[in-house]
Amino acid sequence: MKIYFELNGKPQYVEVEAGESLLSLLRRLGMKSVKEGCGTGECGTCTVLLEGKPVRSCLTFAPKVQGKRVTTLEGLGTLEDPHPLQRAFVEAGAVQCGFCTPGMILTAYALLQENPDPTPHEVREYLVGNLCRCTGYVKIVDAVLLAAQWKREGQWR
Ligand code: FES
Ligand code: FES
Repeated sequence: MKIYFELNGKPQYVEVEAGESLLSLLRRLGMKSVKEGCGTGECGTCTVLLEGKPVRSCLTFAPKVQGKRVTTLEGLGTLEDPHPLQRAFVEAGAVQCGFCTPGMILTAYALLQENPDPTPHEVREYLVGNLCRCTGYVKIVDAVLLAAQWKREGQWR
């Protein structure tokens, strides 16, 4: 079947199989930031934003995004022009292997849209479904709090 949706602000008309996952579709469309970890909804590495809310793309059927807005990390920033959350992750030393980072950043983005001044506990709670095997989470929480501070100071575009 053919579906229409908006990917990072651009219209997409694509052919999908009824049982295809959003993860598979986004990878087919070149969104290499979308990572497959477990493939069963456990790790959060495949997280993208659907209408601004984090979803696990491995568990979301591609036809479900018909008519909706999907955001991947490619839609937030680029190497040349990183989003403040990306800069904060680098500055706080919150990236090691980087496999969890796109999903972490998109989930953190959704958190800061809802709550621009979270406590460290609230950051941990919101990110609880995003697993990281490398960092021990301390620096990830630091990065989100740093980005939140920059957002409150008006440094986000
Ligand atoms: S790959 Fe989707 S939750 Fe792990
Ligand atoms: S930085 Fe390696 S899994 Fe998080």
